[in-house]
Amino acid sequence: MLVSARSFDEYRAMFALSDHDLSLRVLDCPGGAASFVALAGARGTDAVAVDPQYGRDRDRLGTLVLREIEHKHAFLVENESSFVWTWFGGVERYTRLRAQAARTFAADLAARPDRYVAGSLPDLPFADRSFDLVLSSHLLFSYGAQLDAAFHLSALLEMARVARRQVRLFPVLLHTSDERYGPLERIREELAGYGIPTRLERVDYEFQRGGNEALVLDCSDHGALPRANPVGRPAAGSTDPVRWRHLGAGLARPSP
Ligand SMILES: C[S@@+](CC[C@H](N)C(=O)[O-])C[C@H]1O[C@@H](n2cnc3c(N)ncnc32)[C@H](O)[C@@H]1O
Repeated sequence: MLVSARSFDEYRAMFALSDHDLSLRVLDCPGGAASFVALAGARGTDAVAVDPQYGRDRDRLGTLVLREIEHKHAFLVENESSFVWTWFGGVERYTRLRAQAARTFAADLAARPDRYVAGSLPDLPFADRSFDLVLSSHLLFSYGAQLDAAFHLSALLEMARVARRQVRLFPVLLHTSDERYGPLERIREELAGYGIPTRLERVDYEFQRGGNEALVLDCSDHGALPRANPVGRPAAGSTDPVRWRHLGAGLARPSP
């Protein structure tokens, strides 16, 4: 799995974030090398990121991600027509914005280390309802071919546990095929059974073809939720399957 570096502006668009949303306490899960926490923090948002990568390789993360962005650039030049460029305008701008986001992330990680917490779904190191809003980009659903449905449900319940108001997830497509994550409707029914209604919301961002919907979980009314379901946990050692593609050979289809 790739550690990517989306920008604050991408987060605003992917999650349809309003100024009011940015006045709340927000968790970015997983934060990866995104610049959301850095730039939201700079404008006064009480934002925190969590990711397994903040434990190991923490200090090398910025450099590794920049190399990964170069690798992705080569892939996109060869596969430009597979993506929607309305938001980015083209490959050069995509690469410039992602590299800028990675540098902003690395500077903030050094300046405000306490804002970047090491932790993994489905077992987050936070108290119940400790954030108003939880944002989750490009892990669940995106990696639906690698992470099973039980993991998805456990991870969603865990994010709902730490959220007071909402969890928002983007996109609801697999990164491998641009198809909608198959068990989505079944999982939404299961969440409803836990008192967590959900809705799909069209957003003003599309890079994967058809990837312009976020899933919103309403967490305002649920009762106590189960903590990480052991059945849904990935096997030991597989919670963070990050693979640095720039260290391997070839241009496999990357995550978006
Ligand atoms: C494709 S990146 C997305 C990062 C960021 N949200 C963005 O949009 O740029 C996926 C991230 O998921 C993290 N990850 C992998 N397994 C995880 C787990 N079990 N719990 C939380 N994060 C995980 C990886 O370390 C990686 O940073």
